[in-house]
Amino acid sequence: MLIKRPRGWELPESAATPERVWLSRRSLMLGGAGLIGAATLPGLARAQAADPTADLYPAPRNESFVLDRPVTDESIAANYNNFYEFGSSKRVAAAAQALRTRPWTVVIDGLVEEERTLDFDDLIRTMTLEERLYRLRCVETWAMAVPWTGFPLADLVAMARPLSSARYLRFETFLDPEVARGQRQTWYSWPYVEGVTMAEATNELAFLVTGVYGKPLANQFGAPLRLALPWKYGFKSIKSIVRISFTAERPVSFWERQGPTEYGFWANVNPEVPHPRWSQARERMLGTDEEFPTQLFNGYGEWVAGLYAAMEDEPLFM
Ligand code: MTE
Repeated sequence: MLIKRPRGWELPESAATPERVWLSRRSLMLGGAGLIGAATLPGLARAQAADPTADLYPAPRNESFVLDRPVTDESIAANYNNFYEFGSSKRVAAAAQALRTRPWTVVIDGLVEEERTLDFDDLIRTMTLEERLYRLRCVETWAMAVPWTGFPLADLVAMARPLSSARYLRFETFLDPEVARGQRQTWYSWPYVEGVTMAEATNELAFLVTGVYGKPLANQFGAPLRLALPWKYGFKSIKSIVRISFTAERPVSFWERQGPTEYGFWANVNPEVPHPRWSQARERMLGTDEEFPTQLFNGYGEWVAGLYAAMEDEPLFM
């Protein structure tokens, strides 16, 4: 990540500092951030208490999805986020509280029988929520295991009634530079955009997330609606979605536009295909710093490998 206009004097902290030192320094800061966070984020507690969907949580767990490692501690996951709209550091939780998530509408448009604008609170009540334990593997090599709550993206596709000419879904995040100061950085092309094929969107694993840790999503996780595509690098899991368009043409995503030689459309996890600037062979769990070998499709090949049969010519792993 962190591609911007290169300036010789500028290095991300992770590049300037050996990762282990940086990560343990981070854990130290997070230890404190938990306390500071509790004291300085009253808005977060208030927003959740007032959330009109709070009664929907916790949702029953779908036991088909099991983890091979412990769930990441909530205070760790909630204080180490990628949400460039609120800055390029991982400590964006406080800044993200400025985002007003009500009222919130999601536009469904493009190649559908009928374009419409859905109120999020209505949409969520037409869906059956469930909890899924998924792993998330960031392209930067950190990983976490979290209990997302939401509904299958396939259910939204069915509701949207796409035309047979629809081949892709294009997702868009809100655009409000007044609130999201990161969106004032002109070297990024806002708003954040992501895309998947129809086959990917209707795969059982593709999940639209409305909650985490048995509660409505906190802002820094991408409230009120985000995607979870656990077999792909985390940047595909777009946050705070306001528009879902069905298209005939492949969307160009935020990071692909930013750095097409580093971040592609497919972005499926593969330990054997390094990022141009680092290896993808291993991953490190947030919180424990425990390392694991990276798995092909992040370990979800059973569900998704078939999607990519006979597509060897595509750069499936970047
Ligand atoms: N969505 C938006 N709109 N903006 C972002 O910066 N970052 C992505 C993804 N979705 C991002 C986003 C990246 S790089 C990752 S790894 C995940 O969100 C991180 O999700 P988390 O902060 O909930 O762990």
